[in-house]
Amino acid sequence: MEDDIESVVWSSGQISDRVSELATELNYDFSIESTSSSPVFVGVATGAFVFLSDLVRRISFPISVDLIRVSSYGFGTLSNGNPSISSDLKLDVSAKHVVLVEDIVDTGNTLSRLIEHLKSKGASSISVCTFLDKPSRRKTVVKLVGKGKFYRGFECPGYFVVGYGMDFAERYRNLPYVGVLKPGCYQEVSEELPKKKMHTSI
Ligand code: PRP
Ligand code: MN
Ligand code: MG
Repeated sequence: MEDDIESVVWSSGQISDRVSELATELNYDFSIESTSSSPVFVGVATGAFVFLSDLVRRISFPISVDLIRVSSYGFGTLSNGNPSISSDLKLDVSAKHVVLVEDIVDTGNTLSRLIEHLKSKGASSISVCTFLDKPSRRKTVVKLVGKGKFYRGFECPGYFVVGYGMDFAERYRNLPYVGVLKPGCYQEVSEELPKKKMHTSI
């Protein structure tokens, strides 16, 4: 797996430092916000699972944690640009402050769909905390709800990245750093598996 990586973009040490800074921001913002109930941190499966796990362990106020899954595919193999909720929350978020936790925001389609969904469930605010942000590829404006804020770890350049939860064709999520795949590996994997939506471009 390590042999497939051309270069490291963010090392695990750099990631850890940045996640700590994000947690400090969230700890501060939520300490000045008078909340009657615990905010709900909602991770977007699958990609956010590593970041979610690192982030919530640095949060120092009471929270709940839940997961949600979005699918863009239907029965086909190509993204239809209209994601649907394929696995919903376990918790009730009505009148709750929600922090949506993502590994990467690319076109913004996934987040916009999720925000619309959580708003319809009556969340009193919706913030977004994404590890990576690719504003250059945005197709949909991500509209936050109530006093929601947008937190991001790093702005990501336009090339293809994997690791720290992010996959290519379901591989490389377990790398502890973010890296760029060698072009050969990208071809090799894409030939053995069906074509899938890419969250990043090469
Ligand atoms: C990736 C990524 C985000 C989404 C961002 O998920 O984890 O959830 O794409 O893309 P967008 O802003 O263009 O909607 P993906 O659909 O690949 O599923 P995964 O998390 O299971 O890898
Ligand atoms: Mn995802
Ligand atoms: Mg993916």
